[in-house]
Amino acid sequence: MTRTLDPLAPFEILLERAEGVAAPLPTPLARLYGPLAFPRDAPGGAWVISNFVASIDGVAAFSDPAADPVPRALAEISASDPHDRALMGLLRAVADAVIVGAGTLRAVPTHLWSPGYIAPAYASAWGALRAALGKPPAPLAVIVSGGGVDTTLPVFQQAGDPALLVTTSSGAGRLAGATLGPRVRVHDAGATISARAALDATLAALDAQDAPDTADATRSRLLLVEGGPRLLGQFVAEGLLDEQFLTIAPQLAGRDDHARRPGLIEGQRLIPQRPTWARLISARAAGDYLFLRYRLRP
Ligand SMILES: NC(=O)c1ccc[n+]([C@@H]2O[C@H](COP(=O)([O-])OP(=O)(O)OC[C@H]3O[C@@H](n4cnc5c(N)ncnc54)[C@H](OP(=O)(O)O)[C@@H]3O)[C@@H](O)[C@H]2O)c1
Repeated sequence: MTRTLDPLAPFEILLERAEGVAAPLPTPLARLYGPLAFPRDAPGGAWVISNFVASIDGVAAFSDPAADPVPRALAEISASDPHDRALMGLLRAVADAVIVGAGTLRAVPTHLWSPGYIAPAYASAWGALRAALGKPPAPLAVIVSGGGVDTTLPVFQQAGDPALLVTTSSGAGRLAGATLGPRVRVHDAGATISARAALDATLAALDAQDAPDTADATRSRLLLVEGGPRLLGQFVAEGLLDEQFLTIAPQLAGRDDHARRPGLIEGQRLIPQRPTWARLISARAAGDYLFLRYRLRP
């Protein structure tokens, strides 16, 4: 299913009604994606978006290797589709921080949550876009973990890229003595971690990394939640998700009684207590893939 197009054909714009300030996309990105706008003033100083891929039948993860051993190549629901990777890169490139749960880090332990890692062909465009936005070269990678993670993984050892590990007091205790990269910080959120706490810790870390002469207290932040379903569910349950970008990969993954195959949201029952409707604000196609964008908050 992997298609290689060099350069990528532009996304076909089926619907575009996102309002706000257009990101200053360099020509190759503007040609590829078309306009990308976000609201000017985010309530609470942060606009929280998420980006996921799911199969046609709504499978977003194969998260139980013991009961559901799926070979690595097939577990990639997007089949590394180049347009999906370009969109992932684009959203990372406009984001101040990319937030993921420890389950996702354990699934892809060598991953780095930068635009250049996921779509290296556009490396110079990502750099130009971040410079035009006045943002540092790489977004802050935020890992949320209750129990603690392997701090020898690349995301915690990069010399140049900033990372934040939001964990519990017990998770922080287990880190005693760990050697972390020079730009890695640990935030102890206490006994448990709410999505609100993870978001606030992220905003505080971003403020702390701003150079004093470039700090702008009025500037709102764009935060990208890249999963997984459990962490995203927590954000949605706390009413903190503003937008969902959703790639539909043209395959049926299936489920049976033996293996959980989570959709976008895991660990939260939204209906009936919290019915959550969204407004479709953009739709694009590339090949047989569909790229949807939903607004959750009015
Ligand atoms: N389709 C997609 O686009 C997509 C995107 C991302 C990931 N995935 C897939 O999703 C799977 C992983 O997702 P997952 O749902 O199992 O894990 P996850 O959401 O990535 O991470 C869950 C972990 O986050 C930590 N956490 C701390 N506080 C939390 C809170 N309040 N709410 C939720 N999590 C909290 C916990 O870590 P501790 O265990 O350390 O306590 C928890 O186990 C992988 O298979 C991955 O490939 C798919």
